[in-house]
Amino acid sequence: MNEPMTLGWFVNYMPTGWNRPWAGPDPRAWTDGSFYVDMAKALERSCIDFVMLEDSSVVPENFGGDMVAEFKATVKAPKHDPLPLAAAISQETSRLGVVTTMSTSLYPPDRLARMQATLDELSDGRNGWNIVTSFEDLAARNVGLEKLWEHDERYLRADEYLRVTSEMWSGTDGIDFDGRYYRVNGPSAPMSRQERPVLCQAGGSPAGMDFAAEWADLIVSVPVGIDAMKKYRDGIRERIERSGGDPDRCRVLYMVTPILGETDAEAAAKRDRMYSPESDNFLRRIVQLSNISEIDFSTYDLDAPIPSDATTNGAQSILDTMKRLTEGSSLRQVLGSTGESTSLDLVGTPATVADRMEEAMEIVGGDGFLLFHGGGGLITRRYLDEVLDGLVPELQRRGLARNEYAEGTFRERLARSVPTGG
Ligand SMILES: Cc1cc2nc3c(=O)[nH]c(=O)nc-3n(C[C@H](O)[C@H](O)[C@H](O)COP(=O)(O)O)c2cc1C
Repeated sequence: MNEPMTLGWFVNYMPTGWNRPWAGPDPRAWTDGSFYVDMAKALERSCIDFVMLEDSSVVPENFGGDMVAEFKATVKAPKHDPLPLAAAISQETSRLGVVTTMSTSLYPPDRLARMQATLDELSDGRNGWNIVTSFEDLAARNVGLEKLWEHDERYLRADEYLRVTSEMWSGTDGIDFDGRYYRVNGPSAPMSRQERPVLCQAGGSPAGMDFAAEWADLIVSVPVGIDAMKKYRDGIRERIERSGGDPDRCRVLYMVTPILGETDAEAAAKRDRMYSPESDNFLRRIVQLSNISEIDFSTYDLDAPIPSDATTNGAQSILDTMKRLTEGSSLRQVLGSTGESTSLDLVGTPATVADRMEEAMEIVGGDGFLLFHGGGGLITRRYLDEVLDGLVPELQRRGLARNEYAEGTFRERLARSVPTGG
């Protein structure tokens, strides 16, 4: 590889590992944001390109038909809003990209355009928007809709939504947009340093990939395994080429949860404990799967594959991956041996894991990784340190991760590579 990877960190603004060992002295202090601000500073110290703040706005009832398992497992609730946290992070950091998640199905476009422009100014050109269309009908009800639109229609609406917000960000005095779904007459958003946020997206279905290829500067994805990773990236690049664009204008990152140890055997034992069906994490993972697929897995036989006729109006590509993985096996077996949202199993010493990341990027031709603490684990400083103090320096020594930030805005830095000290 001749340029360092792009590295991001995906995080929820919700309880940290409050009820687990290694929770730290202040596990209940997550609500004041200080844990996350500290985390952002640590990411910046390690020259991570950006932090991505996840969002959803529901207490799901998908598992068991009520909220009991959800609160027990703390998968999607309780949760704070990521936007004020992004503002706080941007005041305490100076180089890290700060990406917030906002849904095109839940925010009016003029509100979103202004909030994103304001965050861009507060961060002096380090702002990004993770564009999602949401998949929970409960979220729709919170904003006065009966239910969400059908999966592919959400992306058609999102496409028009991006045309509206692009006009708002372009700095004309006022806009007069009259489309199929949106009519917006109004003042534009204030001009911001990057003009528009770095656009991030995670579409995995054909409609989602069409949308991502059309708009995204940065794609975060979880195709599982080298072949699927390559196929996904090729699919995005083909789409961009077909519409006459330059495929290198968009970076494709893969979500991973590295599990690190002093030795490979120690890391493997850690993985077995973390994924064990007997561990506390297991409920979190099943509930999470219910949330993203809107399928009540409490009524399913966990010792069987996911039925091939299971469908969802939620995150289709993630359900399809789980169906494929459980074929000829069972949900309990699959979740017992691998992460539910990880493109590659990265288990071992920092050197072993760096080897695997290097090899994957060489074969896939991808642009980097989105790190996150998956496997049902809640984030702790200990996990953060293992990655930032163990794995990242190993990548830096090999010239695979940057050890200094380039000048410029988040978008300019993404477009350019920085030679590392290697
Ligand atoms: C890395 C990653 C992060 C995501 N973050 C969010 C999020 O914060 N909020 C949300 O509602 N959906 C989130 N999603 C779901 C995606 O927006 C999308 O629905 C999903 O990848 C399935 O793709 P599809 O909609 O094309 O089927 C995320 C997905 C991935 C892979």
